[in-house]
This record gives sequence, C-alpha cells and structure tokens, in this order.
Amino acid sequence: MVDLVSQFPFPLMPEVALAPVFPSTRYQGSKRKLVDWIWKNIEQLEFDTVLDAFGGTGAVAYRFKQAGKQVTYNDLLAFNTTIGLALIENSQVVVETDEIELLFQRDPAYDYDHFIAETFEGIYFTQAENIWLDMVIQNIDHRLTDPFKRALALFALYQACLVKRPYNLFHRKNLYIREANVKRSFGNKKTWDTPFERHFRKFVAEANTAVFDNARPNKALNQDVMALSPGYDLVYIDPPYMSRKGISVDYHAFYHFLEGLTRYKEWKNQIDYSTRHRCLLHRVSPWNDAEQIYGAFDALAEHFAGSILVISYRSDGIPPHDDLVKLLRRHRHTVTQAVLPQQYALSRNTHSKELLLVGHNRRGITEYRPLQTNHPKATQL
Ligand SMILES: C[S@@+](CC[C@H](N)C(=O)[O-])C[C@H]1O[C@@H](n2cnc3c(N)ncnc32)[C@H](O)[C@@H]1O
Repeated sequence: MVDLVSQFPFPLMPEVALAPVFPSTRYQGSKRKLVDWIWKNIEQLEFDTVLDAFGGTGAVAYRFKQAGKQVTYNDLLAFNTTIGLALIENSQVVVETDEIELLFQRDPAYDYDHFIAETFEGIYFTQAENIWLDMVIQNIDHRLTDPFKRALALFALYQACLVKRPYNLFHRKNLYIREANVKRSFGNKKTWDTPFERHFRKFVAEANTAVFDNARPNKALNQDVMALSPGYDLVYIDPPYMSRKGISVDYHAFYHFLEGLTRYKEWKNQIDYSTRHRCLLHRVSPWNDAEQIYGAFDALAEHFAGSILVISYRSDGIPPHDDLVKLLRRHRHTVTQAVLPQQYALSRNTHSKELLLVGHNRRGITEYRPLQTNHPKATQL
C-alpha cells in the first residue's frame, strides 16, 4: 500500500472547526464593538454565574460564554430572547442548506395567512417582499421543529429585515425613502434592494458559525428584569439610554415589526391601528420615564444585592455619571469605573463617554486592582 502521509512535505493538520464568531448586527446601543473593552475591565473579578439582564443582541452574553462562564441571557422583547436562544443557549444545533431551501418554498397543503401583506402594504417593504415574509415566517414555524433551528432561522430573518430598512428601524412609514429616485447621503440602496433570500442565506451562515458549546448550561429568558430571580455571582446591566433631555430609546417602539414576527399569530390583536406605521400598542416602562428611571436603577441594585453589579451607561444621560456613582455607592461597598470616549451612531453629541461602573461588597476589597482600560481613566472611587 502507498504511504500517502509520509509523501507529504508538511505534516497533515487535524481537522479544526471554524472558530465561533459573533455575527454582524444592527441594533441601537449594541455593545458588539465594545465587548473586549468591557471584558478586559471585569475579567479579574471572581465570578462563575452571570446574568446579562438587558441582553439585546447578546454580544456581551456571548463574550461571557466565550470566557467559559455559566450565562443567563435575558431581554424583555421576545425577538431578542429568540436571538439569545440561537446564540447563547444553543450549543450545537445549526440550520442545514436543504432546510433553508424548504423555507423558501410554498407548501401547497398549508393554509397560509397573509397578515403582513394585508397590514403593511406601502409601509416598510414592497408588497412582493411582504408576501415573501408571510410565507417564510409561517414556514419557519411549520417546517422546522427544533426550537434552536427555528431561533437561528428567525435570527437570519430579523437581520435581513433590518438591513433592508433605512436607519435599520421601524419607527416610521418610510418605504418611499427606499423607492425614491434621488441622490442619498445615507443608507445603501443596493442593500435595501437585495432580495430577502440572499440576505437570509448570508445571515444563517453567520449564525451557524457563531454556535458553540462552552460546556455550561446557558439559558435565554424573556422577562422584565425585576421579575428575574436573584442569586447570580455577577449581574451585567445595559439598560436603555435616556438622554439629558429625557428622551430614551424605546426598543419596543423601534423594533415592533420584529416582535410582531416573533408572535405572528397574536400580532393582529396587538397593533395600534391608529398609527400610520402600524406599531404595537404602547407599553409603559420606568426605564423610559425620566421621573421613574432613578427609582428603577435603585430597585434593581437592591434586587440583586448579593451580586457584583456591572453597569454600562453613557456619561451624559439620566441619571448623569455622578448620580449613577452615588446611587451605586448606596448599595455596594466598593465602586470602580472605566470611561471610554465614544461617538455614537445616529448622534451628533461628541462629548458623551461610555461608562462601565462596577460595584461589589466583597471584603478585602482594597486589594482589588483598579480597572484596566485602553483609556487612561480607570479609577477606584
Ligand atoms: C441598550 S440595549 C442592550 C444592548 C446589549 N447590551 C447589546 O450589546 O446588544 C437595552 C435592552 O434592554 C431591553 N429592555 C428594556 N426594558 C427591559 C426590561 N424592563 N427588562 C429587560 N430588558 C429590557 C431592550 O429590549 C433592549 O434590548
């Protein structure tokens, strides 16, 4: 027999799986580009179980998962929790190419609903795209049985919807921006007009590449933060940002279309039909109310009293930097901070800085090393 191996001029490499990579996302306030800075500033803390209580895209939870922690992801919005299910809780399931193709085919035996085409004509997508969305969202439910496969497919559908939207949001009836034949200073008409199917395939591939097992039982939850049980070693919070003028990011209002897709069968009963852009019925939240946001931070710090509390926020918001530090000091023995100058998407404010505050109650805390940061300002307060 010919010895093929010894004929090779170089040693054969063992087969190595592609390293997991967090997918590209378009989400207001995502920490995707800051996760390594965040991680560098907290990696020396002693903790094993961690809650990412306002998980959003899952970028921070994913970094914790990569670090081998036992991660609980949470978000109030069901579509975000679906992403948490796909990328954090899921340790091995991927979507195969033939499964994707099935999602693009109408099942003659299935009685399809046409809710999106009937409700959103002329609002966000072309009517042909609305009809496609009605088919695919029902195929995901009907043709995929594994909850992780469904979650991965939904992740791809959300991302495809976002890239095809001016500003990547659903805050206005503005399909006309995409269709108008004018010179634009923003956005990418080519991406908007690229067929859903092409975007979808690309995002499934990205999501598949992100799936990995860190040998821990990670979870994705869909709760209001205050309804979660305490008991984590560390709780990371990145709540919606409220500007000094009291204007906050209302995620439920910005991303209502993705939330509707996630609850497709209940969608029609949850729409505020008085709005031109057919958003969901308004939800009140203390995190979106300048009168209540101090109380919300206070109650949260108390609720998770036994945990190290790590807060991401902007220096120029409500509460402002100093108040946030004072508030944290009322609940934790030691508070440290890291500060990073930032230019935020869709914002002209150049003075705002990204804050990372860490509060905890452990003894011997004076020996605790000050936070490390790329920026020189990392201090123990
Ligand atoms: C600033 S974003 C988090 C971004 C996230 N860290 C990331 O990197 O993508 C805030 C998130 O909090 C969620 N949220 C808002 N109110 C909430 C609540 N009461 N409980 C839990 N999550 C909430 C929003 O849906 C949103 O996804």
